[in-house]
Amino acid sequence: MSAPAFTVAIDGPAAAGKGTIARAVARHFGFAHLDTGLLYRAVGALTLDGADPVTAARALDPRALEDARLRTANVAQAASRVAVIPEVRAALLEFQRGFARRPGGAVLDGRDICTVISPGAEAQFFVTASPDVRADRRWRELRDKGDTRTLGEVLDDVIARDARDSQRDAAPMRPAEGSMVLDTSEMSIDAAVAAAIAHVEARGGVP
Ligand code: DC
Repeated sequence: MSAPAFTVAIDGPAAAGKGTIARAVARHFGFAHLDTGLLYRAVGALTLDGADPVTAARALDPRALEDARLRTANVAQAASRVAVIPEVRAALLEFQRGFARRPGGAVLDGRDICTVISPGAEAQFFVTASPDVRADRRWRELRDKGDTRTLGEVLDDVIARDARDSQRDAAPMRPAEGSMVLDTSEMSIDAAVAAAIAHVEARGGVP
């Protein structure tokens, strides 16, 4: 008999630490992990090549998600622009829902996992941090990769993307009722991971 489905849903803004927490929780429990931002980034990248966003979302091959180009700031902004289109979100819905209910457990992180994709998820989180802290983290990451953008430019990017993600009509980013809020502004990543693992265990997740 295969292990039952168990869904861990994690939402939150960019650079709050949700990806790190999602990967650590998935590793601890032996669950599969899906970074749903990559779906929107893949569609965004295709539009930068001239594709129509809705057509690109409907034809998306999730196996194409490993492309390193998807991690660039240009693609992040394009992703946030295609993410406001309801038909794009609808085209990506079934794949995410199927992933969430796969046997053996799944962790999904994004902006609307608790609110839209998996409102029945056994464990739900909203991972956040102040815009200044998130911009500082992102700026350090970019600097280490040789990017020359200033901290102010990165902060402007963070604020623009937050505004677009939380003020859109289609599935805006917001904490779901009943989700555990983890504010990582003044919390180490190890402490945030430990708190998340304890919550998943309390909700019935078995390593
Ligand atoms: O998490 P990320 O930075 O890779 O996400 C890129 C963009 O995709 C983000 O600005 C908003 C959008 N997104 C979304 O609308 N819904 C999700 N579940 C995940 C990402």
